[in-house]
Amino acid sequence: MVQVSAKTYPDYVLKGWRRCEEKNTDINSGLCFFNISSFDLNVLLTENKDLIERSEYVLDSLTEYMNPFISAMLVNRNGYILKEKKCKGHTDSVNFPVGGRFLEKFNGNTAISTSIIENNPVCLVGEEHYCKSYYNYTTLSVPIHSDGEIIGVFSAIGLKTNVSKSALGMIAAAAKAISIGFDADKENKQLMAKNKYESTIVETMIDGVLTVDKDGFIMFMNQVGADILGVDRESSIGKHAADIVDFKPVILDVLKTGKGYVDKEFLITKKSGEKTHFVKTAVPIKDDKGNIVTVVDTFRKINRVNKLVNKMNGAYANFSFDDIIGSSHKIKDCITKAKAAAKSMSNVLITGESGTGKELIAQSIHSYSQRKNQPFVSINCGAIPRELLESELFGYEPGSFTGASKKGRTGKFELAEGGTIFLDEIGEMPLDMQVKLLRVIQEKKLTRIGGNAVFDLDVRIIAATNKDLFEECRKGAFREDLYYRINVLHVMLPPLRERKDDINELIHHFINKLNLKLDKDIRGISPEAMNKIMQYSWPGNVRELENTIERAVNLCKTDTITEKDIFIENFHKDLQLSVEDTKDLTTEIISETEIEPLEVIEKRAIERALNIAGGNITTTANLLKVTRNTIYNKIKRYNLLSS
Ligand SMILES: Nc1ncnc2c1ncn2[C@@H]1O[C@H](COP(=O)(O)OP(=O)(O)OP(=O)(O)O)[C@@H](O)[C@H]1O
Ligand SMILES: [Mg+2]
Repeated sequence: MVQVSAKTYPDYVLKGWRRCEEKNTDINSGLCFFNISSFDLNVLLTENKDLIERSEYVLDSLTEYMNPFISAMLVNRNGYILKEKKCKGHTDSVNFPVGGRFLEKFNGNTAISTSIIENNPVCLVGEEHYCKSYYNYTTLSVPIHSDGEIIGVFSAIGLKTNVSKSALGMIAAAAKAISIGFDADKENKQLMAKNKYESTIVETMIDGVLTVDKDGFIMFMNQVGADILGVDRESSIGKHAADIVDFKPVILDVLKTGKGYVDKEFLITKKSGEKTHFVKTAVPIKDDKGNIVTVVDTFRKINRVNKLVNKMNGAYANFSFDDIIGSSHKIKDCITKAKAAAKSMSNVLITGESGTGKELIAQSIHSYSQRKNQPFVSINCGAIPRELLESELFGYEPGSFTGASKKGRTGKFELAEGGTIFLDEIGEMPLDMQVKLLRVIQEKKLTRIGGNAVFDLDVRIIAATNKDLFEECRKGAFREDLYYRINVLHVMLPPLRERKDDINELIHHFINKLNLKLDKDIRGISPEAMNKIMQYSWPGNVRELENTIERAVNLCKTDTITEKDIFIENFHKDLQLSVEDTKDLTTEIISETEIEPLEVIEKRAIERALNIAGGNITTTANLLKVTRNTIYNKIKRYNLLSS
């Protein structure tokens, strides 16, 4: 034990001695302890790289001017020397190698170990050290903090004759400088990482992004933005927006008006005549005085927007020629013609009775064509009220007519850009609309209702009808010039009664499909049931057959569909017609006493469905598993709207 009077020494000195005694520290040991492998030394230096770098400048300045000290050093929180420098004029009178360690067990209580334990600035003079090697020296040490945690200490040693306790302020200032610098570096690094992260997000966005300063000079632009605008990104930054493109940059209007917008459409014509159709969102960012400092502009080409709309609306073809069932030469002929049509770019007219598969063929043509990955947009010209048909087809600008939405609307033609538009029931199109359609087909250009901008169109037209269009032309209900425009290629679908050889194949196809859908295991159909089916003329064609089989599969209790499972709405009527052609069509066929006529059941079913669907035709059609067209026809037939 060092023989001293307890009162003359500060508490931290006494506590240090006590710790050394408990650890049986040898008071005659050396200045510092070195026992580290080169591997561990490397790890130590790598782990503390940032702290070392940050302290270098402080260490250099201090050792340059503070020659009362012999040496200054940076020590980590475990007592390892990370960096040491002799003060000017001192060479190697004391030896503190990097990797050396201050540990009370080996070299007693220095200011270094004490400042780490006490987490306070400490100065030990001469015999305050529990180590005789330090009796001629003063050690000083101050903790370095980051985020309130001690991460190391900054320390110095000098002869006790040259250095007094008052020098601790100098070391404390140095430690503080390192702490502040280290935290700032850390913050900077985090900020840089965040910046990098954010710019990676902006770079990987599929929208174009650009920002301009208050005067319209480009501050930032991502690569997608540069690609959409057709400019070089690097050289554009720093230039004025008006100098990088050959059209009037709309972003400059935001600087003028101070007002931003969301998802606004723009059609820009470049000097070359090339048109670019955008959707843009521009947000002005203002300072606390309300002055614009920057405008952030995100933009995308309209075809990307339309693609998304089509995806959401399911405006893509689901069927291909593989889905068309039948081996009769009549259907094979149709498929051959349709495949040839698919390979050409000409407009196609598909004719056939209701339910013969016109939509199926139209989708198959699209799926077989080069446009297969582009939208297939279908519109039923007969099902849309005539006053809405034009806006459905061509779209409208905001507020262009009474009832139009404030935001305007994209028409089906625009949505079909690059793909195919299927004009179903073209025979129902009003004459005035036929004129407009003809113009669009001829000019391959489109103007929205109430708009001035002229869009270029690249849309393939497939039209369908169950009317005899030639006859309609003769009657003056269909324009001849339009007829010739759309009837470049003609696919005529035969009614099912003319290809009864396909019925067997179709029935098995539907049974297989329904087994899967309804989790049934129907294996076949009885000869009597088949006979009944073959006797019937199928005025509703394949759709009627499909519905009949669906009902039969639902009713069937065994694995074979029997005659009693086959309900054909107009079976008796049909048979009687075929026997005596002249019978009045409107005569109701009354069945056996308790059984209600199918028409009554059907009318009631439609009324119920209409009620449930709140009058919505599409929902009603979905509920009853028939087309909207059928619903429209039945509404007319049963006079349902007036009731
Ligand atoms: N050859 C066929 N093979 C398989 N299914 C077919 C065939 N023809 C038609 N269908 C099916 O019959 C139903 C009616 O077909 P689609 O809607 O294409 O007829 P459509 O001629 O457009 O009828 P409408 O004139 O009433 O609009 C659909 O469910 C379709 O899948
Ligand atoms: Mg159809």
